[in-house]
Amino acid sequence: MAGTLNVVVICGSLRRSSYNAALARALPGLAPAGLKLTAAPPFDIMPHYNADVQAGSGFPASVTGFADAIRAADGVVIVSPEYNWSIPGVLKNAIDWVSRMKDQPFLNKPVALQSCATGPLGGARMQYHLRQSLTSIDALLFGRPEVLVSFSAQKFDEKTLELKDQPTIDIVKQQLAAFETFIRRVSAK
Ligand SMILES: Cc1cc2nc3c(=O)[nH]c(=O)nc-3n(C[C@H](O)[C@H](O)[C@H](O)COP(=O)(O)O)c2cc1C
Repeated sequence: MAGTLNVVVICGSLRRSSYNAALARALPGLAPAGLKLTAAPPFDIMPHYNADVQAGSGFPASVTGFADAIRAADGVVIVSPEYNWSIPGVLKNAIDWVSRMKDQPFLNKPVALQSCATGPLGGARMQYHLRQSLTSIDALLFGRPEVLVSFSAQKFDEKTLELKDQPTIDIVKQQLAAFETFIRRVSAK
């Protein structure tokens, strides 16, 4: 096997007791030896996208730092809730900002998706919208297995927020192992 692959993890929830953030924290412990997972720089500090700001003072430091981390990574995992059947605004804002960059960081970048939702669909509609947006900027979307954590409140420890649901643990492990294979295939690493 070639060297370790660096994967950046982006979490779409800012909530302190977020299930998505809890899942994101669990990922390093569930990843195969060939993947090193690190959290993306914060993106909630980015201003709302405005072409006038971009044309005037250029890309804010929060945007360039976030983009640099994605560019330097071999792959990206996005773990996000679904808001009103779609992508949380703060995450979409970050995608919109970096999508305007010359050296667009998602170009040919392998991306895997995960979502936690308290309802029965597990964030599926958000994932389909994310697939659309990221395909529009030429990211390489990993397919299956999908990680859709439905009824999230039952899958994490109420106090510690530790992921305790074995079928969820299994599917996350399977996805990360398959994502490693996918990255090596599409980027010949
Ligand atoms: C603004 C808002 C919109 C939501 N819309 C949806 C939705 O469309 N589908 C869904 O399954 N859950 C929806 N929920 C419920 C989330 O699944 C739930 O709040 C979840 O815990 C959010 O993820 P987090 O724990 O990582 O913050 C919504 C929650 C909020 C705050």
